[in-house]
Amino acid sequence: MITESDLSSYEPVVRTPVHGTYHDYDVFSMSPPSSGGTHIVQILNILEGYPLRESGHNTADTIHWMAEAMKLAYADRSQYLGDTDYVDVPLAGLTSKSYAEALRKDITLERARPASEIGPGEPTAYESPETTHFSVVDKWGNAVSNTYTINFSYGSGITVEGAGFLLNNEMDDFSAKPGVPNAYGLIGGEANKVEPGKRMLSSMSPTIVKKQGKNFLVTGSPGGSRIITTTLQVLLNVIDHDMNIQTAVSAPRVHHQWLPDELRIEQGISGDTVKLLESLGHTVVTNSAMGAIQSIMVGEDGTLYGGADPRRSTSSAQGY
Ligand code: DON
Repeated sequence: MITESDLSSYEPVVRTPVHGTYHDYDVFSMSPPSSGGTHIVQILNILEGYPLRESGHNTADTIHWMAEAMKLAYADRSQYLGDTDYVDVPLAGLTSKSYAEALRKDITLERARPASEIGPGEPTAYESPETTHFSVVDKWGNAVSNTYTINFSYGSGITVEGAGFLLNNEMDDFSAKPGVPNAYGLIGGEANKVEPGKRMLSSMSPTIVKKQGKNFLVTGSPGGSRIITTTLQVLLNVIDHDMNIQTAVSAPRVHHQWLPDELRIEQGISGDTVKLLESLGHTVVTNSAMGAIQSIMVGEDGTLYGGADPRRSTSSAQGY
């Protein structure tokens, strides 16, 4: 039973978002215990070295670069990410441009690297110890990007008698055993093992992108392991492929999480592209819809453009 005095002594923990840059943009997203922001920034850093804009949206080259970068990030996730109150997460290294440059050296346009050839990398510069999403922008331009989760639908399926809320089943976001996948197929190790009081890893990626210092994109998604890559693709669709926010949200998405070693695609990627990707060695699997990303883009004159994800019937974009 929680009493009022418990609440008055409750000190909220304030965490600094993970910050990265992508071309001329500043990207702010969620820090551990979510892995989301870290890997969005890491993947953007890797992709910054490729001409995505010239290559075009969802062409075989663009998807190939994205998949190769995604695999590397998820391999690192399996080893390094966990609650920073318990483990040293090499955040500075994982999100550094020089680490991305080193990872890029092993990516070739010739072929997909099988997952068996990939493992967690060595991000330097360790920091010292120390599933529903909504995006809101108010009339002054202040922005909130919020993802919250009880893991699966209805959490653990248990309600607290008389309290009217469900208990989560977030324990599945810990790694039960090194190398054993969780419900989303994610592999983890020591950094994300269960410990008393420790918070489980997450993939939530509530993200705000600033353009020349001003809030520009507010976005985020549910979708388990696919949250990171869903959010990433909306950023790329707007920044590299000049899409309006609704097109960026609706466009077919791809996902690679290192293991299982398969490139998941939604319906709508052309058959020719799939053949080209297969010829590079990708195992392409068509999946049902991935993610449900709710996004706002702020126009130069302050106009707010909402992009609700048609993948879920509960999505909506509303003005005020
Ligand atoms: O925090 C996480 O990564 C998971 N608990 C999210 C689960 C989720 O997105 C389920 N909804 N589709």
